[in-house]
Amino acid sequence: MTSYKELGLVNTREMFAKAVAGGYAIPAFNFNTMEQMQAIVQAAVECKSPVIMQVSKGARAYANGTILRYMAQGAVEYAKELGCENPQIVLHLDHGDSFEICKECIDNGFSSVMIDGSHLPYEENIALTKKVVDYAHAHDVTVEAELGVLAGVEDEVSSAVSHYTKPEEVVDFSTRSGCDSLAISIGTSHGAYKFTREQCTLDPQTGKLVPPPLAFDILAEIEKQLPGFPIVLHGSSSVPQDEVDTINKFGGQLPDAVGIPEEQLRKASESAVCKINIDSDSRLAMTAAIRKHFAENPGHFDPRQYLKPARENMKKMYIHKIMNVLGSNDKL
Ligand code: G3H
Ligand code: 13P
Ligand code: ZN
Repeated sequence: MTSYKELGLVNTREMFAKAVAGGYAIPAFNFNTMEQMQAIVQAAVECKSPVIMQVSKGARAYANGTILRYMAQGAVEYAKELGCENPQIVLHLDHGDSFEICKECIDNGFSSVMIDGSHLPYEENIALTKKVVDYAHAHDVTVEAELGVLAGVEDEVSSAVSHYTKPEEVVDFSTRSGCDSLAISIGTSHGAYKFTREQCTLDPQTGKLVPPPLAFDILAEIEKQLPGFPIVLHGSSSVPQDEVDTINKFGGQLPDAVGIPEEQLRKASESAVCKINIDSDSRLAMTAAIRKHFAENPGHFDPRQYLKPARENMKKMYIHKIMNVLGSNDKL
C-alpha cells in the first residue's frame, strides 16, 4: 500500500472548492509518455497552476500503471526542482470501469479516481459509485462519478439531448453515492471528431465548421440544484485548427476534425465546472510537431530530435489552456 501523501500528491477536495469559488477550472491533462509529463509540469510551474495528471485504462496498458505512478511522483519532484515550492498535483484515474481498478489505483498512490458508471442503469451507477466512495474516502482519496452519457459523434444533436444529464437526478445521485465531483453531459464528446458536418454550420469566411453550442441551460439548472458542487467536463478538447492544418499539410488525414470552441470552455470555467479534461489537443500538438519536423528534416532519426519540438508544442498548448481558457494561473 502506497499512499499518495507519501508521494507529495494531493487530492481534489480543496483544489475544487477554491476553483468553484474563484470561477476557474483545473486542467486535467491525460498523459502516457515522459514528454507529456514534462510538458505538463513545466506549463503548470510556469503558470503557477494546480494540475490534474490523469491516466486512462489505455495509458495503463500502454505505459504500465506502476511506471505512470512513478512518473507522477517524479512530476512532483521535477516541479520542485523547477522552483515550485508547493506543487499541487493530483494523480487521477480517468474512466475507471470497476471497483477493482479503482482500488488498485488507490492502493498504489493515486489521489483521485473516476468511477464511470454512466453506461449502467441509474441505481447500479449509484451502488457502484458508493462502493468506490466508501473505499476511497477511507484513504482520503476523492472520487469523480458520471451521470449522463457523452454524445457519440453519430448522434443528431437533437436526439443527443436524451443523453444529457438530467438535472432532476443530480441531487439524489450525489447525495446517495457520496461522490466528490460529478462529470456531466452537456454536449461535449471524446476525440478529435466531436460533431458531424451535419451538426455544424459553415463559417462563410473561413470555410471551417462551426460546432453547435453546449447546453448551458442544463449546466445552469444543475448548478441551481447543486449549488457549489464540483462539476467536471470530459471531452473538452478544442481541436485547434492550426494543428489540424499542419497535420494535413504534412501528410496527415484528419478531414473535418472539430472540437469545442474555447469561448465556451472559458464560459464553463467561470461556473461550477472546476475540472476540464483535455487529451486530444495534446495528441494533435504532438503529432503536428512531429509531422512537420520529419517533413523538414527527412534525415533525422534520433527520437530526441523530433520529440523535443513535440514537447515544446504540447507545453505551448498547455500554457495557452491554463492562461487563456481555464484561468487556473497564479493560484499556487
Ligand atoms: O477519455 C478518453 C481519454 O482521451 C483517454 O483515451 O483511453 O485512448 O487513453 P485512451
Ligand atoms: P478529449 O478527447 O476531448 O481530449 O477528452 C478527453 C477526456 O475527456 C478524457 O477523459
Ligand atoms: Zn473522458
